[in-house]
Amino acid sequence: MRIDILSAVPELLDSFLNHSILQRAQKNGTAQIIVHDLHDFAENKHRRIDDYPYGGTSGMVMTLQPVEKAITQLTKERHYDEIIFPTPDAPTYRQSIANTLSTLENIIILCGHYKGIDQRIRNHFITREISIGDYVLTGGELAAAIITDSIIRLLPGAISDETSALTDSFQDNLLSPPVYTRPADYHGWKVPEILLSGNHKDIDEWNMQQALKKTKQIRPDLLSNDDAVIE
Ligand code: ADE
Repeated sequence: MRIDILSAVPELLDSFLNHSILQRAQKNGTAQIIVHDLHDFAENKHRRIDDYPYGGTSGMVMTLQPVEKAITQLTKERHYDEIIFPTPDAPTYRQSIANTLSTLENIIILCGHYKGIDQRIRNHFITREISIGDYVLTGGELAAAIITDSIIRLLPGAISDETSALTDSFQDNLLSPPVYTRPADYHGWKVPEILLSGNHKDIDEWNMQQALKKTKQIRPDLLSNDDAVIE
């Protein structure tokens, strides 16, 4: 899978993309993640990519020209399944959307900055808008990083234990049960006996009960949620 990220501050993504699972996925060929600096596409002397908004509101707005040039260049080279714009005024991101995106071949994520982007970019280029939550970030980079991470970890080859992504919280609309590791007794804080029993059927049942209990307590809304796993 290939993800192209268009950003006004590409340095923000450097460390995040070049460590841990995302780094390994890129090294072993599971994913290609390319960050482009939008200033490189600006056709003006000062490489500006923003301008004052019409109508006199405050803040700056990202201009059409650099975004159009970047997207036109990329889409000439290959077909993109989605061109995504992370923005707070959009439907909220969820695991089922990550599942869908992980089945695609090529996507572009356009990071907004300043007060927003010219609406015509959204009208003419963007195929999907995503909010990562009801709060406002300085720019789209953190949202792009979150979306990228959630997709890449689902790709076969990204995580060494392939089943572990499938047992994540949310994959079945349940939060994950608690997990424990050695030692079995730490200063008297004991691991639940059942996990030491070796009886996998009972352990599966216990995990399911714990997941249900936790979901009821913390996120009861998930239990009345009949979302598809893919959307
Ligand atoms: N950009 C700024 N805030 C955002 C949010 N909550 N979700 C996605 N993109 C954003």
